[in-house]
Amino acid sequence: MKIGLASDHAGFKLKNGILSYLDANNIPFKDYGCGPGEKADYVDFAAKALKGREIGECDRLILVCGTGLGMSIVANKYKGIRATLCCDDYMAEMSRKHNDSNCLTLGGRILPLDEALYIVSIWLKTKFEAGRHQERLDKIAKMEENRY
Ligand code: RB5
Repeated sequence: MKIGLASDHAGFKLKNGILSYLDANNIPFKDYGCGPGEKADYVDFAAKALKGREIGECDRLILVCGTGLGMSIVANKYKGIRATLCCDDYMAEMSRKHNDSNCLTLGGRILPLDEALYIVSIWLKTKFEAGRHQERLDKIAKMEENRY
């Protein structure tokens, strides 16, 4: 599984910490920016990563802005994306088990690095439980086609 990462300026530092964590743990990733010192619009960098995923450059995304809210709003505009803003390990666990989250959004101005990395580690390793949760995701998929 390859992870695509993107941030705006407010999420840059945390994104960098996550990038180092992935690297240290031999987890493949692709960085879609922003770069250091760059004043960046979260919409633009989310779009780069989301489009990269659409063409198969990566499988799941981690998007970081100041609060994680803007990144969530943008990511959930994309078909097939289930972006979840996670503020603790419980949210990270449930976002995978029940929502099959394929895009983790985080707040660089909210979370210290150690907490964020714990969230990332849980989100990466937790499996989707499917069953009744899949039925709910099927309804969401129908909504994307205006069929629900
Ligand atoms: C940037 O100042 C900030 O608005 C952005 O990082 C994010 O928190 C938006 O949701």
